[in-house]
Amino acid sequence: MTSTTGTAVETTVEIATGTGWVTICPYDRLTPGRGVAALIEGEQVAVFRTRAGELYALGNRDPFSGAYVMSRGIVGRRGEVPIVTSPMYQQAFDLRTGECLDEATTPDGTPAALPTWRVRARS
Ligand code: FES
Repeated sequence: MTSTTGTAVETTVEIATGTGWVTICPYDRLTPGRGVAALIEGEQVAVFRTRAGELYALGNRDPFSGAYVMSRGIVGRRGEVPIVTSPMYQQAFDLRTGECLDEATTPDGTPAALPTWRVRARS
């Protein structure tokens, strides 16, 4: 990407924390349709870039298995809903809300939703 002055402008991915925006990595480092794990204030966050170019950030911990694997999930769609499918037991989560579309609660009775973070691409 080039600005009007001819200087290369790098677009970075940022995540909102309680206090501001934290830079994750260059947008181009994210592979379309894949996720990466980032550590934000001690929490593992799974950051996804969809094939359409949208960004989403969700908790990296799969609530059903307790494993930190959501960033390795398969990104896709269920109808109009952009989803990530857990690599453990294949439950689908709405990338926009973190909500599990297959089961409302985990086996121990806790809500099966992933936390979400605001994420943006910034030049
Ligand atoms: S490539 Fe972006 S966090 Fe590793």
